[in-house]
Amino acid sequence: AHQWRGVIREYAERLPVTDATEVITLGEGGTPLVYARHLSELTGCSVHLKVEGMNPTGSFKDRGMTMAMTAAVAAGAKAVVCASTGNTSASAAAYATQAGITCAVLVPDGKISMGKLSQAIAHGAQLLQVDGNFDNCLDVARKLAESYPVFLVNSVNPARLEGQKTAAFEVVDTLGDAPDYHLMPVGNAGNISAYWKGYTEYAAPYASMHHGELAPVSTRTPIMWGFQAEGASPLVKGHPVTEPDTIATAIRIGNPASWDFAVAARDESGGLIEAVSDEEILDAHRWLSAREGVFVEPASAAGVAGLIKKHAEGKVPTGKTIVITVTGHGLKDPQWALRTADGADIQPTKVEFDVVSVAAALGLEG
Ligand code: F0G
Repeated sequence: AHQWRGVIREYAERLPVTDATEVITLGEGGTPLVYARHLSELTGCSVHLKVEGMNPTGSFKDRGMTMAMTAAVAAGAKAVVCASTGNTSASAAAYATQAGITCAVLVPDGKISMGKLSQAIAHGAQLLQVDGNFDNCLDVARKLAESYPVFLVNSVNPARLEGQKTAAFEVVDTLGDAPDYHLMPVGNAGNISAYWKGYTEYAAPYASMHHGELAPVSTRTPIMWGFQAEGASPLVKGHPVTEPDTIATAIRIGNPASWDFAVAARDESGGLIEAVSDEEILDAHRWLSAREGVFVEPASAAGVAGLIKKHAEGKVPTGKTIVITVTGHGLKDPQWALRTADGADIQPTKVEFDVVSVAAALGLEG
């Protein structure tokens, strides 16, 4: 029976690999594009969620990591390093394990979720909690890779964006063409850059490394709408933020590495990058779990928060096809589900071991 072979094998003709490449993969990609019925009803559009939490380590990072780790192995690397708000470290740790090489990760002390921390540790990464934020961690990781024998697997490594662009390919392959709008969270800005690369490559003749020129797959590219957390919105402000702050720890970033690519994606697509508040992010997080049946981590809901906000402003034309990337799984950072909108703890109801008590607790009448 056919099994999805991971993004490198599925899209080999559009990636910098050959038949001889030793592929490091955990079967990433091929994630579901889920029709969001309630967001569609709200906006009068056809809204779909690209559910990236369904990747092997629970986030979109796996698409880039299969390429970065494959490149590291091809270069003879014995060790890799990354800075991370959590998901990149979880992914790097898993793929390094599969590759049989050492992985060091630098994370901001106290600012990564328990799920992500446990993944990196479970996969045997050398995890260092740095007294600083993500931007400080990335700075050190880059310097480490320049001066020591370790291979950098952050998205400043172009292999990462090559892998991540496959998500745009999958959207087009599923819908039959590019959507009108593509919305997503923006942190270090690698992912929006990668999607734009994927969409533009699919809309034009493509000079493949080993397969000649490939015909365009889509007739158009989408308008890209990116959303940052208000307290960590350098691209919206137009300058780096030195003390980024948001409950969406995955996107708590003040100086995105792919700044210029993200601005190009925004401007070339006729799109925008705007901010959403933590409250709007948590409202969207609740909307996704309680109405659409899709459980994500808070940062992953920023694109949905953006749609709801732009709709409220009257800026979402009806009848459009809209794709929103939800970037990571809810189990990464589950604590947010156990609070009400007012911040009160939610406690499960306890009952006696007795059918009448259970029926009463459920409000059932016999
Ligand atoms: N959503 C999630 C769940 C993330 O983990 C990240 C980035 C983003 C969105 C933003 O993507 O950086 O490409 O703009 N996480 C990185 C990490 C920084 O270290 O895991 P981006």
